[in-house]
Order: sequence, then C-alpha cells, then structure tokens
Amino acid sequence: MKTFALKGNICFSEDKDTLRIFENSFVICKDGICAGVYAEIPETYQGIPCVDYGDNLIIPGLVDLHVHAPQYSFRGLGMDLELIDWLNTHTFVEEAKYKEISYAEKAYDIFTEDLKKSATTRACIFGTIHNEATLLLMEKLEKSGTKAYVGKVNMDRNSPENLCEKNPEEAIQDTEAWIRACEKFEHVKPILTPRFIPSCTDELMEKLSEVQKKYQLPMQSHLSENYGEIAWVQELSPDTHFYGEAYDKFDLFGGNCPTIMAHCVHSGKDEVELMKKNQVFIAHCPESNTNLSSGIAPVRMYLDEGMKIGLGSDVAAGSTLSVFKAMSMAIQCSKLRWRLKDQSLAPLNVKEAFYLGTKGGGEFFGKVGSFEEGYEFDAVVLSDQSLKHPQKLSVKSRLERMIYLAEEKHITAKYVGGRKIFDCKK
Ligand code: GUN
Ligand code: FE
Repeated sequence: MKTFALKGNICFSEDKDTLRIFENSFVICKDGICAGVYAEIPETYQGIPCVDYGDNLIIPGLVDLHVHAPQYSFRGLGMDLELIDWLNTHTFVEEAKYKEISYAEKAYDIFTEDLKKSATTRACIFGTIHNEATLLLMEKLEKSGTKAYVGKVNMDRNSPENLCEKNPEEAIQDTEAWIRACEKFEHVKPILTPRFIPSCTDELMEKLSEVQKKYQLPMQSHLSENYGEIAWVQELSPDTHFYGEAYDKFDLFGGNCPTIMAHCVHSGKDEVELMKKNQVFIAHCPESNTNLSSGIAPVRMYLDEGMKIGLGSDVAAGSTLSVFKAMSMAIQCSKLRWRLKDQSLAPLNVKEAFYLGTKGGGEFFGKVGSFEEGYEFDAVVLSDQSLKHPQKLSVKSRLERMIYLAEEKHITAKYVGGRKIFDCKK
C-alpha cells in the first residue's frame, strides 16, 4: 500500500477531554496506518502524493457499535411500541423474510450502499439467523470497503417458528458452518451474536460458549435495555442476581471474550462493576432508547468510571445510520436525564460525544478512531460550505455544527484502512 497525505482542517480526539484541531495541515497515511499530522510535509515524506481538500474538515471515520442490517428496511416505521411488543409486531416479522435470498439481496444492497455513503467506516452489525443471507450481507460489505464485524444471529426460544433455530445442536452446526465460510473475507469478520437472553436457551448459550473458545471470536448482544425485558430475564434465569450474569455464567461477558453490549440503560451497581472488570464495551444508542421509550443510559457515569463505551445507531429502533445523529442525541438525552432524573451526572458536551463516536467505539477494533500515530487510517472529509453563515466560524465551531447538521451531501470523501472508498471531488 502506498504512502500519501491529505490536506485540510484536521480534527480528532486524543481522549474524551482532548479534541485536537490542526488547521490547514497534512495527515499522512503510510501502508494504511496514520504517520502523524504536520503543518508541513516532513523531509522523509517529501514527494508523496497529496490530496488537497482546501478548507474542508478531515475527521477520523465514525464507528457504529450496534446496528441491525435487516431492520434498515423498516427504519422510521412502527415506533409506537416498547421493546418486546416492537420485536414481536415488527422486527421478527421483517427478519423472517431474509430466509428468501432474493429479498435479502434487494434489502442488503440498499443497506450496504447507504452505509458506504455515510460517515461510518467501521460497524458492528447484526444479521438474521439465516446463514445464506448473512454471508450475502458480508460479501456486499467486503466489496463496499466498510470494515465490519457481522453476526449471524442465534435465537432458539420465545420467537416465532419461522425465526427460530430448531434446536441448539442445529444452531451450532449452522453457526460453525457460517464461521468457516467467513474465512475468505479480509475486511469483514464474524462476531458471535446471541440475540439476547430471552431468545436463547441455556443449552444454546452453553454451546455458543464452546464455539467462542474454539474460534476465539468476539461477541455482541443486548443488555438491560427495558424494564420488562430485565424482569423477564430474572424469571428465565432465576439463578442470576443481575442480567449481565446470565451472559457471564457462560463466559460470554468480556474478559477473554471481547464483548459489546448494546444499551445498558438500567444496569445496576453489580452489573456495572462486572462490565468494568471484564472490559465489556457499551454501545450507547440514544435514539433507539428514545423511540422505544426505554430510558436514558447514565453515560456520564460510564465515562467517569473509565468504562469502554461508544455509540450505536441501533437501526431500526434508531431511524438513521448517522453516527453524527447518535452524537447529538447522546448530548440531548444526557441533558434531559440531568434535568429530570439525576443532577449529579452532568450532561455530555460536544467533545465527549465526538470522542464516543470515533475513538471510544473505535477501540473495539484496535487502534481505530484517531489520527494519532499508529492508528489505522480511517478518514472522512466533510464539506460544510453549503451551510451558509454570515459570521466567521472557527474550525471547532464548524465541527460542532456538523455533529448537529451533517447530511449525506456533506460527506465528500472516505478512506478506510488507507483505502479510498470514494471521493466526490475527484
Ligand atoms: N433486543 C433484542 N433484539 C433487539 C433488537 O432487534 N433491537 C433492540 N433495540 N433490542 C433488542
Ligand atoms: Fe439492537
């Protein structure tokens, strides 16, 4: 892979409290890895190709830690229910359609194309229980250049017959066949995906735990999203003290199994302690939590505790793939939580939200989500000139406006791991 530079107004997080801005500067990519940000191209790199993006903003690619690809088809529909009724009424009905490969082909073309055009460079994606459709989704993502973890979903109880694995044995056979079929992919990797405890028998979880150890896969699921769900898990797993324990008892809760748990809206003290100890990543999904009336996660506390946390769109409980929208909603929801529920937890600010959508979530993928040296080179170029303003605005203010106002038309170019995905200017 070659060495090149991009020139523009470069913005990235070093940590949750430190936003770095280098105006009119060069960010250098060497073999897919960031080699630093400079005011002038250093001696050693003289003569490398440079794309000049002028006054545009250049930011690290955004990271979506939680999104359901098959649900993209009904985004913006059916939001008047809470989680369990929403799943039964809308979600399971739609996901069952992906048994039909011609339907999956059409739906996943739309999802993959729209994700490609977004500012997201990395995503952790749920498919459905179907091997064929999930592999098709992975092929499309591989071609589009988005780097992703994708999961064939496991579910064998409390689900409609046409969206339920026959028994744990067959579920595992399918899962292992799917894992082996994933070996051909370079940019897209498998992640174990038990839907959530209410959908998975202990027998299935036991066997998934063996699969996790055998293939050393990461895992993703849902945790403490909704009060009704939490009460149901307590009934289904009476031997546990809190929801997270129902994953942990199968060694599927961080530690040696890198784990993302979506939501964590209502996690109690013991659950938080265990997540912290096991370095479980939280996917905070503020739009989803608003639409399904789930609640507002205590993100300030998670940040103060030094926990691993990023943002998720959670389409279709969230209506849009935009991680910018997740950033602005994380701020807005934290303000409502502070005002209405708990004044000991201060609202989030722009710096923190930008960190969550870049470096915070990026950490699940390794050195991702920043332009510090050694980070994988994921970059997005934003042209905000069409957002007119009479006054002079700093680069920091322009970035702030993008968090609230960015649309597809502002996303001019995208690079993932040093590969150009598109450049509208060229
Ligand atoms: N819990 C189990 N399945 C789902 C899902 O598809 N979306 C959300 N938001 N929560 C879930
Ligand atoms: Fe979800």
